Amino acid sequence: MKVVAALLLLVPLLSCRAVPLAPFHPLDPRVIDCDDPESEEAAAIALNYINAHHPHGYKYALNIIEKIKVLPRRPSGEIFELELDLLETVCHIVNPLPAENCTVRPRTDHVVEGDCEVKLLKLEGSFSVLSIKCHSTPDSVEDITQICPDCPVLALLNDTQVINAVDLALSEYNRRPDGAYVKLLEIGRAQIQHFPDIVSVEFAVVVTNCSAKDAQDHADDCQLLPTDLAQFGFCNAAVLTKNNITVSCAIYEHQPGVTHHQLIHNHLGGQLPTLVQGFKHHDLRHFYHGSVDDTSESSSAEASVSPQPAIPVVKRAVEAVLDPTVPPSPVGSGPTHPLCPGRIRHFQV
Ligand SMILES: *[C@@H]1O[C@H](CO)[C@@H](O)[C@H](O)[C@H]1NC(C)=O
Ligand SMILES: *[C@@H]1O[C@H](CO)[C@@H](O)[C@H](O)[C@H]1NC(C)=O
Ligand SMILES: *[C@@H]1O[C@H](CO)[C@@H](O)[C@H](O)[C@H]1NC(C)=O
Ligand SMILES: *[C@@H]1O[C@H](CO)[C@@H](O)[C@H](O)[C@H]1NC(C)=O
Repeated sequence: MKVVAALLLLVPLLSCRAVPLAPFHPLDPRVIDCDDPESEEAAAIALNYINAHHPHGYKYALNIIEKIKVLPRRPSGEIFELELDLLETVCHIVNPLPAENCTVRPRTDHVVEGDCEVKLLKLEGSFSVLSIKCHSTPDSVEDITQICPDCPVLALLNDTQVINAVDLALSEYNRRPDGAYVKLLEIGRAQIQHFPDIVSVEFAVVVTNCSAKDAQDHADDCQLLPTDLAQFGFCNAAVLTKNNITVSCAIYEHQPGVTHHQLIHNHLGGQLPTLVQGFKHHDLRHFYHGSVDDTSESSSAEASVSPQPAIPVVKRAVEAVLDPTVPPSPVGSGPTHPLCPGRIRHFQV
């Protein structure tokens, strides 16, 4: 990352090599602390972007700013590189609540932690996202059993008991006398408690054009509402036996412009997507923006919405890596260390 960052400084040189230039003085990074308001602003912009664009699972909250580096960019602006630790909240991405208003899961509820490397451009006081690369992992089972021996841990999303529990809960919900018939969109997470076995599941649903009552006879004819009316919901359920099911769902009002088309595309084929086979959570690594090292496999249509035409800067930096005529990068001697990592907002995982 250091090399690419240093090469960004060379970009203006490369693009106008014919023009005589003043002797090249590499500009030094500017040192700011992880808890500096400017770092927090950059982190908040990156987090908003992640929450608005990652296509599966839950919204995340900022836990710790691990690292920050601010590099000058010629002819103007600065590049911010940050490493962020995030924590999964209880809000699924279909929940319209802003992530700031979403509760972070307590440690005993088998938390999922996200790690992101983000790069932003600050130009004339405003930030835009250049690239984001994340992954997420559930806390270790050993950690959970240490702080809470009886807490159920996350189960595989394709576990047979989990899938059965979701089917039962959804049928139960669709048996209510009024309201719309909903279809399963994705299973968000599941936990199985033993003796007696209680399967707790969380899942996102999408609203169809049928009432729950109509659907009892011809569920196959029920189609999703058109995108300009699209409605989503989220359910929590606990299933003990097929006669002992507790399920509650929140159906959200239509959000103009929100289609979750990738979520629908990946999940409504009938089969459980390969994305979750053998996994206990929806990994943030499936979300990828502004690829520097190109593994285009996971770059999605939803993730390619760029607020600024800033990406070419990064692409040129990649070309520069390949250009043998470029002299070795003048890596800055690095001034004093910033105060990092920053404060822990929730808890250390
Ligand atoms: C989110 O939280 C803020 C601050 O607590 C509050 O003012 C706002 O009304 C909340 N928004 C929603 C949609 O609940
Ligand atoms: C739902 O939409 C489908 C396809 O447009 C249509 O065939 C069906 O009759 C609709 N059902 C209701 C209850 O409107
Ligand atoms: C369902 O199971 C719970 C927990 O064991 C129990 O308290 C409750 O009475 C059961 N309800 C029914 C309807 O069997
Ligand atoms: C879940 O997926 C994994 C990985 O594909 C597979 O090995 C496992 O057998 C699946 N479990 C069930 C119950 O289908």
